Amino acid sequence: MTSRFLDEDHELAHLEFTPGQPGGSQAVNLPILQGTLGPSVLDIRQLYNETGCFTYDPGYTSTASCESKITFIDGEKGILLHRGYPIEELAEKSTFLEVAYLLMEGELPTHKEFQPFDQSITLHSMLHEQLRNFYSGFRRDAHPMAIMVGVVGALSAFYHDSLDIRDPQQRMIASHRLIAKMPTIAAMAYKYSIGQPFMYPQNHLGYAENFLYMMFSTPTAPYVVNPIVANALDKILILHADHEQNASTSTVRLAGSSGANPFACMAAGIACLWGPAHGGANEAVLNMLKEIGHKDRIPEFINRAKDKDDSFRLMGFGHRVYKHYDPRASVLRKACYEVLGELGHQRDPLLDLAKELEKIALEDPYFIEKKLYPNVDFYSGIIFQAMGIPSSMFTVIFAVARTVGWIAQWMEMIEDPSQKIGRPRQLYTGHNLRHYSPFSERKP
Ligand code: CMC
Repeated sequence: MTSRFLDEDHELAHLEFTPGQPGGSQAVNLPILQGTLGPSVLDIRQLYNETGCFTYDPGYTSTASCESKITFIDGEKGILLHRGYPIEELAEKSTFLEVAYLLMEGELPTHKEFQPFDQSITLHSMLHEQLRNFYSGFRRDAHPMAIMVGVVGALSAFYHDSLDIRDPQQRMIASHRLIAKMPTIAAMAYKYSIGQPFMYPQNHLGYAENFLYMMFSTPTAPYVVNPIVANALDKILILHADHEQNASTSTVRLAGSSGANPFACMAAGIACLWGPAHGGANEAVLNMLKEIGHKDRIPEFINRAKDKDDSFRLMGFGHRVYKHYDPRASVLRKACYEVLGELGHQRDPLLDLAKELEKIALEDPYFIEKKLYPNVDFYSGIIFQAMGIPSSMFTVIFAVARTVGWIAQWMEMIEDPSQKIGRPRQLYTGHNLRHYSPFSERKP
């Protein structure tokens, strides 16, 4: 198969190829789409109609699955923009709920616009009382992410008045419910796992504060949320809020493309996020650092990561899109020093180990050649641990934050007039046509 651009300044790409089957060579003109930023995109929608060929792209390394105005990443330069605003500015100056509004609505809110949004999120934070019963169906030692998948999916059985995805008002209510209830569901998953009573949300507390309150307070004593921890959590939530068409967001879009309700779509997103190659990496990083234990053992683990016959990978390193330092990891690295200092953990052995591991990996030819840099998950676990959050909750917090990105992307998809059900094709390499034979005729 050969291909060439006839005219790079022109908006059509001319593609010539020989399919390797009778019929000779084929030619097709494909429109070239140009976004505001980022590489050009070949519009292959008519390719199959015109040539009878599909494209083949496992892992979607060269495929733009949708048009979006929400988030832009330049992986070569390490740039991440939400609605045009750099992540560094948002992490430093904004709040998680303001970023949620920005992602969903497209603009930073005025004070007048933000107040009703903030209030709506606050007022939707309580769960239907019968949902509490749902938790007791789980084993006491269930992973909180397993509980999240189940309970978030179950929301569709409780909130029938916000399931009609064709109604913008119902979509909005479902979105607010999801953003509001995620911290409550997450904190309850934790409380269940440690055998403590569930705590109700408090309307006078901010989003991150409320989550910490529901996780750490008990009915037996007053609990005051540490503002350093609440601010750090708010920043972490901002850093995880959205990340373009990553695996879980694509899962949400694909589930939503069939018309599934938003609660079911979010449950699908949570299930995908749980994997260690995605959001599950933050928990895996901490486990890895504990397993390494001492800086003398770092070379052993670096060698394992480089060994093709060993499935071990340096967790928190590498990214499909970033071939440069992940900008979220830069913010988190700095935040790590600040938060640990403010909390009085000046010398955190895991932070020292992580810094040393990062230094050694970044100087290693294998990691340099493959452009493997620390990603967002590399430092988040260390801050979480200093904040007193157990490692089983790391990915849960990622899910709480990413819910706003999933919702913004889901809403954008529903409102897109060109939206179709997602239905990839395949390169079939199985048997050719053959006929059924009874047991007696089958070879042993
Ligand atoms: N340690 C060692 N080698 C690695 C690593 C790593 N962490 N990541 C990639 N490589 C190697 C990989 O073996 C491959 O080598 P080769 O070309 O010789 O076969 C090459 O780098 C490219 O890797 P890939 O798996 O083809 O790249 P990908 O874009 O499909 O995977 C990734 C990206 C994030 C899944 C992968 O880098 C990885 O598994 N990292 C560790 C898990 C992790 O930290 N995940 C969090 C990602 S960021 C947050 C999020 O998405 O939730």
